[in-house]
This record gives sequence, structure tokens and C-alpha cells, in this order.
Amino acid sequence: MSEYVTNVNERHGSFAKGLFCKECGKSFPLSMSNACDECFAPLEVRYDETRVENALNRKSISGGPSSIWRYWPLLPVNPESGMAGLNPGFTPLRNCRNLAEEIGVKELFIKDDTVNPTYSFKDRPVAVSIPKILEFGLAGVGCASTGNLAGATAAAAARYRIPCYVIVPSDTDHAKILSALAYGAKVISVEGTYDDANRISNLVTDRLNVGFVNINLRPYYVEGSKTLSMEVVEQLGWEEPDRIIVPVGSGALLTAVNKGFGEFRQYGISEGNCIISGAQPSGCATVADAYARGDNVIRPVLKPATIAESLAIGNPASGPEALSVIRNTGGFADAPSDEEIIEGQMLLARKEGIFSEPAGGTVIASLKRKVEDGTISRDERVVCLITGNGLKTPSHLTGSVVGSTYEVKSEIESVLPIFGRNAIRV
Ligand SMILES: Cc1ncc(COP(=O)(O)O)c(C=O)c1O
Ligand SMILES: [Zn+2]
Repeated sequence: MSEYVTNVNERHGSFAKGLFCKECGKSFPLSMSNACDECFAPLEVRYDETRVENALNRKSISGGPSSIWRYWPLLPVNPESGMAGLNPGFTPLRNCRNLAEEIGVKELFIKDDTVNPTYSFKDRPVAVSIPKILEFGLAGVGCASTGNLAGATAAAAARYRIPCYVIVPSDTDHAKILSALAYGAKVISVEGTYDDANRISNLVTDRLNVGFVNINLRPYYVEGSKTLSMEVVEQLGWEEPDRIIVPVGSGALLTAVNKGFGEFRQYGISEGNCIISGAQPSGCATVADAYARGDNVIRPVLKPATIAESLAIGNPASGPEALSVIRNTGGFADAPSDEEIIEGQMLLARKEGIFSEPAGGTVIASLKRKVEDGTISRDERVVCLITGNGLKTPSHLTGSVVGSTYEVKSEIESVLPIFGRNAIRV
């Protein structure tokens, strides 16, 4: 471990030098602010360039831990306190030839974040935010969640022995609420949408001495997620793909993916101009609708209606920024229907053995639609981010898989006479 913590900045335990406004560039100390007091634009973490240059190169990364902490010079916490957590990341990048052939694209890679400690990419932003909360001396951690963040925050809080409060809409998948409870969190379920849960969380944040990972810790939270694109580049042999398709809820993940590519370019780790595209369900197509209208204004969706609950964020905090990243990189924002999302989930499961939640089905459905309509060229190398595991959200698939159970039943029944009795019940 010691080789990773040499030279860390004594004051902050990292090479982070401050928070900076993404619009006007105004600088702020590394505090719990998330918006500029001049222009209200979001803030981001920036690093001491000389220190990062001295510590970060392909060799130092390759020799690092098998987790997000291999990129520690570009993360805003002391790696030693970070590594006391659940160490998510460095998940497989799977070369998916079966699905590439089925969809008709030259090369398709799935970044498989279904295998993180709590089975979604949310373990990444949480791994960075909780050590930051401890650094700020706060008494506990919280989040507003569509489900996955609840489990990720609760599990990491258990590991760090701090109380955890999660606020979720009441129709959140049962398995997601149960796992957060199992990890010991206090779960507050709100009769309403994610946006209602988010509003309540903002009020709680102001009154309690608690750090809400996706609210007042948001600039640090995003830093964890950017490791997804850094890993993709590293796993492709230090090359960016031609295109990456990202599921969009609040839009934070998509902006983080952009920051990850950008910082690797800035420090000479890799180069490229990856096209970043976004996928949302048609029942909550905030960014995709603005993209289709050719407009910069995101119109909130008051009552999202989709099986892709983890993406059901009607008023996306990072929506405008996600939209501008998509436009600047030449990407698309697409919004398949729930039927197409289920088809996408089934394709991924049956062609590649990866069981994703509907967020993953949304990405695969967009890939299919956009290859079919010619937006994605058939000779591209595409990466799809599959960010959550299907085992937490099985209920809506019942109709799609039950039929096949019966087919199997009749096939198996035909061989049962070999046993001379009814040995198997299907
Ligand atoms: C599995 C999964 N994928 C993607 C997202 C979207 O991330 P963001 O809200 O940062 O856009 C979420 C958000 O909860 C999620 O749970
Ligand atoms: Zn500003």
C-alpha cells in the first residue's frame, strides 16, 4: 500500500487542488459546495498538475490495485482511507462477439459493472464520497436514490461504521430496499417520485450533519464514476473506443465518463475523440427529448413511467451538461420503449450470459435501434456501459421468460421415460 500513498498532499491527502466552476472557472476550496456562487453552474474537482504528472503513467496504473484506486492520483481522497472501503471497479470489459454479430456491428464490448460489490456502478462514486465525508468530520452519510445508490451507500457505510440514511421513492424495487436494510441503513420511503425524494434529501442535508453523496458531495461523487471510462481505455490497450453508450438518469454518469476520457488525454495517458451517446427510457426521456427538439432546455417529466426505475429521474441535475457533452462529441440521445428495453435485456442475457437490469437493456436497445437506422456505422468499435445487475429487478421479466420454461418442460418430459418414473418436476 505504501507505494500508493507516498507524496500525497499533506493537507488534503490527495492531489486535488480545489473545486472549480465548470462555467466561469471561479475556484473554491475543497469544501462541501456543489454550485458556483456567481453563476450557479456545477463545480468540479481539479488536480495539482505537476504532482499528477509525476505520479501517473501507464506503468504506475498497471501496477496498481485491481480497483478504482489504481487511478488514485486523479481521485480526490487519500487512497489509504479509500482502500478501507469495498474497493469496487476494475470490472471486466467483455468482447461480445455473439451480440456484435446479432446486431451487426464490427466490435462490441460490454463494460460489465453488474459485478461490483453491490452489483451496480454506484459503488464507484460512493467509494470516493464516503472517505470525503469522514475527512469533513460529518456524523453520517445519506443519499436520494432510485435504488442502486441506496445499497451502495448502505454497504460502504457499514464498512466504515457510520450511520446511513437513504431516501427512496416508495415504488423502488423491493430487492433494492431490502438490501439497503440488510446493510443496516435507515430507509425513508417517500410516497412520490425520485424527484420528491431528492427534494426531501435537500432539506435534510441542510438540517443534519450528514453528507448526502449525490447532493452536497456531488463534485467528489462524480470523480468515482469517471474511473469507468479510464478502465475502458486501459482495457482496450490504452485506446478510446469509437463510441460509448451510457445510460442516463440524472446525467452525472455521462458527464463523469467525459471527464475520465478528458483527464487521460490531458495527462498523455491516451488520446482519442470517443463519441459519447446517451440512452434513456421513453417514459422518462428528458435529455433525449431535448436532443430531438434541437433545444438546450431540459423539460422535466413530472411522472416518469417506465420499468427502468433506476433511470426514472424526471428533473435531471446534470441533464443540461450531459446534453452538451453528447452534442460536443457528436453523439446521440435515444429513448427506446419498455418493450425494446426488455428485448435488450434478453438479448444480452441470451447472447452473452450477462443479466442486466433494465438500465442495461436500455443501452442495448439504443445500440440496436441506432445500428438499424444507420446512425452507428457497422465498422465502429462500440462500448456499452452495463451498470446494474438484473437479479435486483427480476419481476417485470416474468412474462418474457415464462413461455420458455414451458418449452423446456415439454422437452424434458420427453426424456423422462428413460428413468422409468416421474423423476423430475419442472
Ligand atoms: C444501474 C444504473 N445505471 C445508470 C444510472 C444513471 O446514472 P445517472 O443518474 O448518474 O445518470 C443509474 C442511476 O441510478 C443506475 O442505477
Ligand atoms: Zn461560475
